[in-house]
Amino acid sequence: MTLSIYAIGGGQMVEAILRAAFKNKYAQPQQVTVTDISQQRVTYLTDTYHVQALTNLDVTALKEAQIILLGVRPQDDWAELVQAVADSQTQAQIISIVAGVTLEQLAVSAGTDKLPITRIIPNTLTDTGFGYSGATLNQFADKVIVDPFLSSFGKVDYIPEAQIDIYTGYGVAGPNYIYNFYIALTNAGVLSGLSRKQANAVALENLKGAAKMLEESGKHPYELLDINNSAGGVGIAAQHELDASDFAAGVQNAVLAAVTRTTELGGH
Ligand SMILES: NC(=O)c1ccc[n+]([C@@H]2O[C@H](COP(=O)([O-])OP(=O)(O)OC[C@H]3O[C@@H](n4cnc5c(N)ncnc54)[C@H](OP(=O)(O)O)[C@@H]3O)[C@@H](O)[C@H]2O)c1
Repeated sequence: MTLSIYAIGGGQMVEAILRAAFKNKYAQPQQVTVTDISQQRVTYLTDTYHVQALTNLDVTALKEAQIILLGVRPQDDWAELVQAVADSQTQAQIISIVAGVTLEQLAVSAGTDKLPITRIIPNTLTDTGFGYSGATLNQFADKVIVDPFLSSFGKVDYIPEAQIDIYTGYGVAGPNYIYNFYIALTNAGVLSGLSRKQANAVALENLKGAAKMLEESGKHPYELLDINNSAGGVGIAAQHELDASDFAAGVQNAVLAAVTRTTELGGH
């Protein structure tokens, strides 16, 4: 099912979402309208994706849209924009990616608590088909309409709104932890004497293979470690050093800091 989409704010995240929706055949460019206050972005989006892009709100298109994607930043005029959406008398499902702005804040700004609004924290791996977005629907939102759209740019976890900040710091920021681990590991390979190219290739293969093992074996990672760490062997020598380091606490503290920062930025 392909629906007409109106995106307000045509920045990096909206572009990534639309690119995935096009790639996965959820939407076609002629069904998409984007408003961005930057003429440069409007020109870029028109030239690159052949969507209808403009610097002002097209009230008719807004009214006729089936999905409205609110894609501006928390410091932008999201309150005015959501009010304009409500004023257009649209029947669309409204999907907000504005970080930290709650369903209640959106309803208050809209001047009505009857709008179907879904608040999401979108994943940032949209180009790969991997990654979870966290989503909370208000009581008027229609999951049957919303889910195919959200699923067009990754997997979706429907969560209580109170978990959105946790989801942001743990899940959406998640690839950052993996990139950091990958860098640490490849540097270790180079430190040990492999070329950068070899170290990168081996680490990436191990990363993908280990993920597949976790997914397909059904075994707990401790079981997989038990298999690899034989008595007095190589694996257990490395394990001992890792256990004595602040590796686990470092990762856990980083996630907690990301969750705390998300909450601070949302002002709640
Ligand atoms: N990027 C990510 O990885 C990511 C991940 C999860 C969630 N998010 C959330 O997604 C939202 C967008 O983030 P982003 O990274 O895509 O930011 P961004 O690239 O700065 O995009 C926001 C766009 O909205 C435009 N804009 C500002 N006010 C507007 C208005 N009144 N009407 C229409 N357009 C307006 C901005 O134009 P100007 O630049 O000219 O002001 C900019 O092009 C944020 O709330 C963010 O927290 C982002």
